[in-house]
Amino acid sequence: MKTEVIFSPLAALEVELLAVAAVDTQTEKGADAKPQTALLTSEAAVLAAAAQVLASGEFKAGTGETLVIHAPAGLLAKRLLLVGAGKAGKVTVHSVRNAAGTAVRAAKPRGIREVAFALPEVAELPPGPCARAAAEGALLADFDWDTYRSDRKDQGVYSFKLAALERSKASVEAGFAEGAIVAEAQNFARVQVNEPGNVLTPTVLGQRAAAMAESIGLKWEVCSTGKLLELKMGAFLGVAKGSEEPPALIVLTYEPEGYDAASYTGSVIGLVGKGITFDTGGISIKPADSMEKMKYDMAGSAAMLGAMCAIGQLKPKVKVICVVCSAENMPDGKAYKPGDVLTAMPDGDKPGKTIEIINTDAEGRLVLADGLTYARSLGATHLIDAATLTGACVVALGMTNVGAFSNDDATWEKFNAALSVSGERVWRLPLGEEYVEQIKSDIADIKNTGGRYGGAITAAEFLHVFAGDTPWIHLDIAGLAWIEDSRPYIAKGPSGIAVRSILEWVRSYEA
Ligand code: BES
Ligand code: MN
Ligand code: ZN
Repeated sequence: MKTEVIFSPLAALEVELLAVAAVDTQTEKGADAKPQTALLTSEAAVLAAAAQVLASGEFKAGTGETLVIHAPAGLLAKRLLLVGAGKAGKVTVHSVRNAAGTAVRAAKPRGIREVAFALPEVAELPPGPCARAAAEGALLADFDWDTYRSDRKDQGVYSFKLAALERSKASVEAGFAEGAIVAEAQNFARVQVNEPGNVLTPTVLGQRAAAMAESIGLKWEVCSTGKLLELKMGAFLGVAKGSEEPPALIVLTYEPEGYDAASYTGSVIGLVGKGITFDTGGISIKPADSMEKMKYDMAGSAAMLGAMCAIGQLKPKVKVICVVCSAENMPDGKAYKPGDVLTAMPDGDKPGKTIEIINTDAEGRLVLADGLTYARSLGATHLIDAATLTGACVVALGMTNVGAFSNDDATWEKFNAALSVSGERVWRLPLGEEYVEQIKSDIADIKNTGGRYGGAITAAEFLHVFAGDTPWIHLDIAGLAWIEDSRPYIAKGPSGIAVRSILEWVRSYEA
């Protein structure tokens, strides 16, 4: 999709489809209150073209609602698309993202290749962030995931133009350019999550991460078993052992302009991702029902790689290290077993923690344990991890909120602030000594499951052991990495969740 911003009157746009957002302005309640709507544009020609249909009351401007007017009088566009943005007064930057996405997704099944979207004119909303959101919404909406169907129809929108007012030109252009980078990075994550396990092995994930890093000028290193043995990553190796596919330890490094290791005093942000390219459960094998979904068990690592892709292009003034621990969790004659004791990577001069394996399906926390220790050993002063870690998190929060945990309130506050930019929904859950009790082992330092109750929390407490006192955030994205139903503004399938929030949080540490 080609994207650009234009500053000309909407009436003069010669496009296949011109989309304009509308809001519901009806304040009366009750069954016989006639729908009242308003378009979020001041251009008289567009208001006139839509006047008749709006007066009919057929269109209520509900969120995601659309209506097409062919050959709109007084406009050069072939079609005028009205996009509902919900109640007037409740429109946010996030509604703009969704409205732009809805316009693109309305065009796709109609075979329309060219969309112009009028940047909504809402006095309370800043044009820059709105333009960013519009670019994000459009590019995220263009993505479809049916890439393996031989009868796949190309429904791509080739051209997306954002039409804005001249007076906010500079901020609109900057916001739009940034939004395009962010959305392409999120789509990179979605492409990886979409791949089946036979295509995207740990080795292939490593190759794709390296190619992406190379293309935007990030330092990278991809290693396998030999390096894991050298680093004594016993937890990560334990999980990897059961597969014919070798594991991949992927490290991407972003250094800000003028970075000098000896004199750098800023923060070093460590991003750690769970990259299980397929999770059978191992010897504690999962039931066959829905096991195919476990190809998306690398969504945490995809989120981190996506965030790095944006960071490498937006160039914040802070150093960032990304560590991805990728393996396949398989049952095999060589696989790790319940009852085994694994020794995690040593922490500086302290020996690695011993871990009693209760369930081989709790593998994510094992690879992340070594990933967190490794990120700290590389100098991370602040940590964030993302993982499709527990079904328990999905039980607790459903498919609406990501579960988050932190050992530091100030760090969490910065992350919470990042959410107002990203628009992603994340809910903080507690940690606590009582939960640590549940993962105490009789024979080792710690065990890898804490029983049925509070499963998302005991998993987080397990990771907490390896994050130590380093300010850290853990994101359990199990419920949101894969969208089960399509929405007006985004396809079902891989969501690319957490890319935008991680990026904004990283930027909040700029020196
Ligand atoms: N990858 C799964 C978690 C998962 C579940 C992700 C549903 C996405 C959707 C993880 O490795 C796992 O199997 N967790 C177990 C932990 C249990 C054995 C303590 C779970 O949640 O059942
Ligand atoms: Mn598992
Ligand atoms: Zn898993």
